[in-house]
Amino acid sequence: ESIYQLRGIRHLQDSLQKKLGIRNAYVVSGNLEEEEYVLNDMAKVASMQLQQTLEDDMVLGITGGSTMAAVAEVLTQMRKMEHVTVVPARGGFGREVEKQANTVVAQIARKLGARYMLLHASDTLSKEALQSVLNDPAIKKVVETIKTTRCLVFGIGRADEMARRREFSQDQIDMLSRQRAVAESFGFYFTREGTIVHEIETLGINFNDFLKMEHAIGVAGGARKAEAIFTIARLKPSMVLVTDEAAAMEIMKHF
Ligand code: G3H
Repeated sequence: ESIYQLRGIRHLQDSLQKKLGIRNAYVVSGNLEEEEYVLNDMAKVASMQLQQTLEDDMVLGITGGSTMAAVAEVLTQMRKMEHVTVVPARGGFGREVEKQANTVVAQIARKLGARYMLLHASDTLSKEALQSVLNDPAIKKVVETIKTTRCLVFGIGRADEMARRREFSQDQIDMLSRQRAVAESFGFYFTREGTIVHEIETLGINFNDFLKMEHAIGVAGGARKAEAIFTIARLKPSMVLVTDEAAAMEIMKHF
């Protein structure tokens, strides 16, 4: 327990950033699986990063999840951003309304004094259904705006956990584990090597858009997410990561 405790969080941050080969890593103390305040601290750092990155005419893409919901919760407005447009990165799913990307989008937009658009298209629709949904001019306009996202703030999940949350069948869950999926982000499931093994058909940003994204801020913590965070971060060298000490230590030790 080591060098990181002796030299502190700064050293851990620098080592993590180097190990992952990313633009920047921010690490808050503690383990969010154990203490509630850690999520709050992480969300605050993420919201500060977001405000520093945002330019006044940007389209800001947001994903759902409990971490992103916490970011929206703690965000405090520094300056009014009335020319920023906030959009969900992809379609939504599930029943927990407070974790929906649309909900997080609306809350972040309200706090920033920004405009926003919602995407009313479930990501459980089939390819064909999604194609016909695109005939709707309102949805088409939202999707076109999502495609111009310059800054993405996103959550990172474990593949198994996200498959359960998406109510995948047992067969699908078994398949993902056979294919060694470990990470999920914006509807894509990845192996530790970064190979996509499954993709949720939905409207919005795809993997290629992610790779080309000018600014990407990933927010995720907790030791259990270490492998998922490691996997996603290595796909996107220009990303900024906001995480906690527990995940950072786990990555430094085991990956
Ligand atoms: O894609 C990953 C999820 O958005 C992460 O969700 O923040 O609730 O763990 P979570």
